[in-house]
Amino acid sequence: MNVLGIETSCDETAAAVVQDGTRVLSNVVASQISLHGPYGGVVPELACRAHLEALPGVLQSAVEQAGIGWRQVDAVAVTYGPGLASSLLVGLSAAKALALSLQRPLFAVNHMEAHICSVFLNRAAGAFAENCPLLALLVSGGHTCLVRVEAPDAYRLLGQTVDDAAGEAFDKASNLLGLGYPGGPLIDRLASGGNRSAVRFPRGRLLRPEGELIHGMQPGCCFSFSGLKTALMYHLREHSLPDDESGEKLRSDLCASYQEAVIDALLSGVEFAVRLERPRRLAVCGGVSLNSRLHERIAEFADEAGIDLLLAERQFCADNAAMVAGLAGAGRGITGAAAMQLDIDPNLAPAAV
Ligand code: KG4
Ligand code: ZN
Repeated sequence: MNVLGIETSCDETAAAVVQDGTRVLSNVVASQISLHGPYGGVVPELACRAHLEALPGVLQSAVEQAGIGWRQVDAVAVTYGPGLASSLLVGLSAAKALALSLQRPLFAVNHMEAHICSVFLNRAAGAFAENCPLLALLVSGGHTCLVRVEAPDAYRLLGQTVDDAAGEAFDKASNLLGLGYPGGPLIDRLASGGNRSAVRFPRGRLLRPEGELIHGMQPGCCFSFSGLKTALMYHLREHSLPDDESGEKLRSDLCASYQEAVIDALLSGVEFAVRLERPRRLAVCGGVSLNSRLHERIAEFADEAGIDLLLAERQFCADNAAMVAGLAGAGRGITGAAAMQLDIDPNLAPAAV
């Protein structure tokens, strides 16, 4: 079955064709980074207009690059939440129109579940169900959460950030350091030459990991990153960065120290969840899973804990439509008449608590 996936929840206009849930025939992504870069973050109204302009061409390329014709599309899949309202509307409207005109079923999927599914694309990870119970660390620009996947259709949110997402923490730090947008890759690069112990930033953890549940979530699986960004802001007020080589060195040290604080917080959440849930596999997905130091640290942890680690291929870490088509190919999502009548859900939860 060839599923045509559509993803427009944030600042990537993406379409992809995936066969039988895991074989990616095409994966086209039109990034809007240059559009939002000057503003230091995504401007929703600009994102929505750019999706409108780019989507027809991106869809055509996805079908052509897959080496199929429109009649060989067996189903259409789309993200209906969470994400930016006006951007989600573009994708969902286009998907409904395509499903109607091609007379094919529509699958509306949860963006967060799709990120988890990304670790099963194009690889010999085995069937999704065989890897469950799975613990997924989902780290992106908009979300940071730990999800227990009991089975491909049974998700439980163990914990999430109570303020900023990990990607947001990188993006905001990058703005403070005058580096540009998106901040994650820039900080990752500069951090590689820096001293991780130069500045001791706060670790974004709640004080009592074993305490009472927060809205049904485990405090030990929750994160907090807004204090970290504030700590960097105060540090920069007190220690200016000279405009010379010594300033460059200080900037690298700050990036390395800040990155380590984000990763320490993520790792302690993962450690807590692994102890609590004893999953069969650990999956790390979302844009921040591209971070080289996170890879190193999580691989070390998985090795010590004796748990198999599943990482998505680089092309499937950030937002893409292959993960959307893959999830629908595995039979997940709202379909039938309910999908054709469905509205977007910008605040759709990553999973049931
Ligand atoms: O999953 P994604 O493409 O979009 C959302 O659903 O949010 O994630 C984008 C986020 C951005 O915050 C970006 O700074 C971050 O992923 N990111 C990274 C790296 N590459 C992208 N963060 C840390 N290190 C990286 N190498
Ligand atoms: Zn995403």
